Amino acid sequence: MAKNVLSVKGVYKSFFEKPAVENLSFTVQGGETFGLLGPNGAGKTTAMRMIMNIIVPDKGEILLNDEPRKNLKANRFGYLPEERGLYPGAVVLEMLTYFGTLNNLSRRKAEVEAIRYLDRLGMVEYTDSRINQLSKGMQQKIQFIAAFLHDPDILILDEPFTGLDPINQIVLREILQEYKQKKRILIISTHQMEQAENICDHICLLNQSRVILDGKLSAIKKKNRENAYIVESDSSLEFITSFSEINILEAGNTSYKFTLKDDKMAVTGLLKKIEAKADIKKFEVVEPSLHDIFIKKIQEQSKDKE
Ligand SMILES: Nc1ncnc2c1ncn2[C@@H]1O[C@H](COP(=O)(O)OP(=O)(O)OP(=O)(O)O)[C@@H](O)[C@H]1O
Ligand SMILES: [Mg+2]
Repeated sequence: MAKNVLSVKGVYKSFFEKPAVENLSFTVQGGETFGLLGPNGAGKTTAMRMIMNIIVPDKGEILLNDEPRKNLKANRFGYLPEERGLYPGAVVLEMLTYFGTLNNLSRRKAEVEAIRYLDRLGMVEYTDSRINQLSKGMQQKIQFIAAFLHDPDILILDEPFTGLDPINQIVLREILQEYKQKKRILIISTHQMEQAENICDHICLLNQSRVILDGKLSAIKKKNRENAYIVESDSSLEFITSFSEINILEAGNTSYKFTLKDDKMAVTGLLKKIEAKADIKKFEVVEPSLHDIFIKKIQEQSKDKE
């Protein structure tokens, strides 16, 4: 089967004349995890709702393999909405089976898949419970199963990690990893930069309805490097504090983090100077964290607006 490609092209959406999403464009390839990131009110949920065809863009288009969104069958999509909520009186397995059949699974297949995921998410003992007997995180897990039980081509998850404990976050990540290996399209929104860093290949950072950063995570990290390095040895490296060409950021006797005063300076000369006095165990460029990049970009945009 050909790889799926989702294209969002020049999409706009306003509510009461206030823009929620402006000129949003991106492409997601099957097998890629795409992260929609940004502070509260940036436009992430609005963008997801447009991909889900819950709201229609004022302008622009959304295509899956060149086919307009409105022509696509609902069962190709799976969605974990921001507003969690399942029918409180429903019985877990019955409800999941029903969702599966709505998305074209046979009753039998829907039930088998539901039990398989309930087991995986440590929920098998709640198969016959009612939704209102479950904790908030448990209900979220059920809603997550409902979103992807039918193995959709595109899975859209609005803040999937919020409300889950660390163990459940790991299980969810594993399931998403497997989904991605099937070359499906996965789009998540999150405020948790560490999660985004761990699972996204491609990110789009929104702020105040506009895209302020978009691209492959690895390329973004490389571009935002701040010329910082870490050197480590088994013996003391204290002598490097006397080197005039560096600024020490963190000192730990056998481990130092530093920047070069002149960004254009070749680092090889420095490496030789250190090697002359100590065995180097580790020497590497410090990648900026996505958290730091996020904060920097948002602050830069706020300054530009002033
Ligand atoms: N149905 C609606 N009616 C009116 N305004 C809306 C509606 N939905 C969203 N908005 C506005 O659109 C903007 C973007 O909201 P959106 O929910 O997309 O943000 P978000 O990035 O998902 O934020 P959060 O991180 O808080 O979930 C906000 O200014 C919000 O007030
Ligand atoms: Mg939102």
